[in-house]
Amino acid sequence: MSTAGKVIKCKAAVLWEQKKPFSIEEVEVAPPKAHEVRIKMVATGICRSDDHVVSGNLRWPLPVILGHEAAGIVESIGEGVTSVKPGDKVIPLFNPQCGKCKVCKHPEGNVCLKSSLQQPRGTLIDGTSRFTCRGKPINHFIHTSTFCQYTVVDEMAVVKIDAASPLEKVCLIGCGFTTGYGSAVKVAKVTQGSTCAVFGLGGVGLSVIMGCKAAGASRIIGVDINKDKFAKAKEVGATECINPQDYNKPIEEVLKELSDGGVDFSFEVIGRLDTMLSALLCCQDSYGVSVIVGVPPDSQNISMNPMLLLTGRIWKGGIFGGFKSKDSIPKLVADFMAKRFSLDPLITNVLPFEKINEGFELLRSGKSIRTILTF
Ligand SMILES: NC(=O)c1ccc[n+]([C@@H]2O[C@H](COP(=O)([O-])OP(=O)(O)OC[C@H]3O[C@@H](n4cnc5c(N)ncnc54)[C@H](O)[C@@H]3O)[C@@H](O)[C@H]2O)c1
Ligand SMILES: [Zn+2]
Ligand SMILES: [Zn+2]
Repeated sequence: MSTAGKVIKCKAAVLWEQKKPFSIEEVEVAPPKAHEVRIKMVATGICRSDDHVVSGNLRWPLPVILGHEAAGIVESIGEGVTSVKPGDKVIPLFNPQCGKCKVCKHPEGNVCLKSSLQQPRGTLIDGTSRFTCRGKPINHFIHTSTFCQYTVVDEMAVVKIDAASPLEKVCLIGCGFTTGYGSAVKVAKVTQGSTCAVFGLGGVGLSVIMGCKAAGASRIIGVDINKDKFAKAKEVGATECINPQDYNKPIEEVLKELSDGGVDFSFEVIGRLDTMLSALLCCQDSYGVSVIVGVPPDSQNISMNPMLLLTGRIWKGGIFGGFKSKDSIPKLVADFMAKRFSLDPLITNVLPFEKINEGFELLRSGKSIRTILTF
């Protein structure tokens, strides 16, 4: 029997309060309104950005259904939806692409003016939520809310992908892989023969390394305080790995010595102010490029000497690897299907959705790269 047009009762992981475990609840998911799409979730990854909301690093209205790195199948569509139909395999877009605004029309811009990354909002673009739990509306998270058996998204926040793609793997194209890979090839524009330093060897940092390697970097130095991450980093392309705790001088000085005066490209893929500054300082004074990928703690500032930039360094950042989401995801899925890159090294754990708290503990304890939750 079709569920189209009806409220669906299903399970979701609701975050009621900061720093508390997720609670598996029965929620009601309303049918999609005009220009909205309801998706049956198949697989979702756990990204550090979800945990930033739990810890309070990233401020978001609660209670909320988190999750933003996923893949699923369209269950039903609202009036006027033309780009997807029931049964299509899709990836929800945490960084949507309306296609009409000034940023979407700009050849380089990728943070759409309608994006809730521009302005945190716990609803769909019409200002309301499709989720209710125990009689209360529950907030959406960055257009996606994938920690739920069904979610509703705006049409600008979903894209159709190859019907043959394995959803339990390509879900990583919805955030971690694309963010890291694009930060290297598109944001930094890593060059052939260059030296790169990557701070933070989680799922996103490893994807930066894959991007640096694909761009032809000849030296890729991984930096992490957890040396258990080194083997995997080397497997995906790091040429050496260092632990800042093994040195009694600042890590930027170590990196400058290792690279004859400074690396060509550096990436901060942790989300800390001190490492953002170290990454800036370790790149070559005159032509080094440093890219911020990690999400910084809420409302904090960095104080830096402008002289660092006056000499010519470039300091930039990027959401979703600088990619326009609707345009790039189907192409990246096609590249994956053509075996141009593998996602297997990123997937260390697969758990049933109900074990979401276990998945977050694996991330927090440094034991996992990506845990995929399956529905
Ligand atoms: N820009 C974007 O669009 C975007 C997208 C996804 C994730 N992110 C952000 O990227 C960051 C990385 O995400 P992830 O999922 O790979 O996280 P992760 O937690 O899996 O990886 C972070 C790594 O940093 C290491 N680390 C922690 N403190 C360190 C320190 N002081 N020095 C060196 N290494 C240290 C940890 O050991 C870990 O290996 C997060 O801040 C996340 O929110 C940004
Ligand atoms: Zn993410
Ligand atoms: Zn737009």
